Amino acid sequence: MPSQITIALAPGDGIGPEIMNATIELFRLAGVLDHVHFVNVEMGAHVFAKGFTRGMTDEAIRSVEDCGLLFKGPMETPKGGGGKSINVTARKLWNAYANYRHFKTLPGVDTLYSRAGIHLDFAIVRENIEDTYGGIEHRLSNDVVQCKRLISAPGCDEVHRFAFQTARRLGIAKVHCGHKANIMKMSDGLFLERFRATGKDFAEIETADVIVDALCMNLVMKPQMYKMIVLPNLQGDIVSDLCAGLVGGLGFAPSANIGNHISIFEAVHGTAPDIAGRNIANPTSLILSGLMMLRHIGLTQQAANIENALLATLESGTRTGDFGNPATPPLGTNEFVHAIADRLGSKPTTVPAIADACPDAPAYVHPPKPTAPQVIRTFKNVVTHVVGCDIYLDTPLAPLSLAGELHRVCEDTPFKLSLISNRGTQVWPVGSIYTECVDYYRVRFELKDGITPGTFGQSRCVALMDKVAEKFSVCSYELLRIFDGVKGYSMAQGQ
Ligand code: NAI
Repeated sequence: MPSQITIALAPGDGIGPEIMNATIELFRLAGVLDHVHFVNVEMGAHVFAKGFTRGMTDEAIRSVEDCGLLFKGPMETPKGGGGKSINVTARKLWNAYANYRHFKTLPGVDTLYSRAGIHLDFAIVRENIEDTYGGIEHRLSNDVVQCKRLISAPGCDEVHRFAFQTARRLGIAKVHCGHKANIMKMSDGLFLERFRATGKDFAEIETADVIVDALCMNLVMKPQMYKMIVLPNLQGDIVSDLCAGLVGGLGFAPSANIGNHISIFEAVHGTAPDIAGRNIANPTSLILSGLMMLRHIGLTQQAANIENALLATLESGTRTGDFGNPATPPLGTNEFVHAIADRLGSKPTTVPAIADACPDAPAYVHPPKPTAPQVIRTFKNVVTHVVGCDIYLDTPLAPLSLAGELHRVCEDTPFKLSLISNRGTQVWPVGSIYTECVDYYRVRFELKDGITPGTFGQSRCVALMDKVAEKFSVCSYELLRIFDGVKGYSMAQGQ
């Protein structure tokens, strides 16, 4: 390990600077600054105002990329005005693909489970880049908007591999995959399939899957049954806040966004504008996130020392105003951190102390910068053939009239009209009078009988779309293909 590791530091907005200053002071008192050098970078709401649409200056971007590590406070997302979340931008820009959150019962933090004597200690790994967080959204017709949900095999592989590697390192015996593959058979189905495929490389770890709605119920009723759960982005976002609630709220949930080159460590909660500037915010989540960072770079002894002091402080009943026994007067942010610093070197007595060092903890090696964006791939050499196309139309016609028009359009082409669906439900050739339709249809054209897949490529589909476009507003188009003989598209509901 080099003698000093440089880490980019962005205190954030709202309570961010208060809790960040307090955390860095605690790290200083614990000797962390002998090994770590923090460089301040400009990120946050005030940077939007200077005209940087990503919420960070070019210099900040360069610094984070040079360091490979960013410790950040919460940042405000400006409402309206097209300003995107800096937090999501940072994770996606730097491909921090695995959001790792640890949920643990803490002494002095009263919850339904701590009162019942149920000790919780588990992790969520959330995919951080894909899913609806691509933010690819369009208005398709007067009445319909769309958000595209993308799931890729190599994206899944990266997050699953991180989950299994982390489980192996921590001695976690069983990893669950949460999903909704019973409904989204292709997208969540791929996430689940890649989980199972990746799990084969980690034979000593048991794998299981659980549908996300059942997972939520289980987490409330018997959360101790889980040790690590890996989830797609949106489901992981929702489930991880639920889990924070199980251990006392967002103030106690740390978070690491891990990538191959750049990793970001941050508190789970937001900027808390209602209490900003009053020295009353709870720094625990940021401290715990900082401890994840110290372990990530190999400072496991310092992390254990600080965590033991934090646990000893919490078990003594010392608290900030947002938790704990109301009979005990709350401390301000700075006083709370000094109470922790006073206990450096001591250990908790009511809960197990954290072991001083994890012997196989990896020392930090700054990964080399990539020279260009990488194309990551899982499946190669797949044989694909075009078998038709789905064309999406903006029209208020009823299904029967629409079918009549489209039959005429495809008469002299290699395609036949095989399906019309509305909001995913088949409305032609068979439908129900109870199905309400909106002004946006999917019309499916497939090869006429007798034409072999592979006879031609997609140009005939484009020509067909051109003909359809002479009569209708075409909103979008999806090619229908078979991949190694397997259909690469779903059936309609009711088909
Ligand atoms: P919030 O987490 O900031 O606040 C929710 C409630 O929890 C408030 O009552 C607040 O006072 C309290 N709270 C939060 N952190 C606390 C702490 N450390 N100590 C004591 N009390 C605490 O969520 P909200 O109000 O929805 O979002 C405010 C801003 O934060 C928004 O601009 C949002 O976009 C941003 N945000 C940023 C995040 C990040 O940087 N990773 C994450 C979530 C929200």
